[in-house]
Amino acid sequence: MADAAELLSQMRVHGAVPRHVAIIMDGNGRWARERMLPRPVGHRNGMKSVRAVVEGAIEAGIEVLSLFAFSKENWQRPAIEVAALMSLLEEYIQREADELESQGVQVRFLGELDRLQGPAAQAVERIVAQTAHCSRLKLNLFVSYGSRAEMLGAVRRVVQDVQSGTLNLATLDDAAFGDRLLTTGIPDPDLLIRTSGEQRISNFLLWQIAYTELFISPVLWPDFGRRELYEAILDYQKRDRRFGRVAV
Ligand code: IPE
Ligand code: IPE
Ligand code: MG
Repeated sequence: MADAAELLSQMRVHGAVPRHVAIIMDGNGRWARERMLPRPVGHRNGMKSVRAVVEGAIEAGIEVLSLFAFSKENWQRPAIEVAALMSLLEEYIQREADELESQGVQVRFLGELDRLQGPAAQAVERIVAQTAHCSRLKLNLFVSYGSRAEMLGAVRRVVQDVQSGTLNLATLDDAAFGDRLLTTGIPDPDLLIRTSGEQRISNFLLWQIAYTELFISPVLWPDFGRRELYEAILDYQKRDRRFGRVAV
């Protein structure tokens, strides 16, 4: 089996890497269960995969990496699991902030962040400020995020702007709506990867993935690394993106 370095050189031969890769990081619980371990152990091991894909993305020259870390619906999990995830988020930031800054990674958080509390909320603010000047890789971490809620927020903003006279309803188009989403200014993902074999979107970036290429990996998130990322990109590079037109 080819290793990550070989796959990277194959990718370079094939041509353009996706500008924006998004990942639904799924399967931590099953990874732990397979080992008769508690679910939070799976989440902890998932942090290593985050590090691996961030490094892989930098090496491959990807511009934007979006990771779905915690959904709005995930708040409904048992309180003990939610608490473990929040404390891991804080730990991840403590541990990685300096390294991410030195690698040139600009970290942003997207979601209903006012639902975060105490140390996790403070850690989020800290790393965003610390890495704001970085420009090599833009890392978007989606936490407390749900796409339908995001779109409803955009609809509310459209109505407010029409009422206040700053938007003419007749001129509302994809770009004007997109400007009112949390992802304003971020190009749509070119490639969306979901790990753990689940064939669904689970309320992630519904508007933004209209023409995104999908890649379902059977690998559970804690086992996903640079090699798996590059396999997905190589698959993407073989595709013909038509955007509704006829191939020439
Ligand atoms: C993904 O792993 C992490 C989060 C959704 C927070 P899961 O916790 O969903 O793992 P599975 O799907 O139960 O295996
Ligand atoms: C999606 O995974 C959310 C994240 C990966 C953060 P879930 O495990 O929550 O999704 P479902 O419940 O399988 O659809
Ligand atoms: Mg899951």
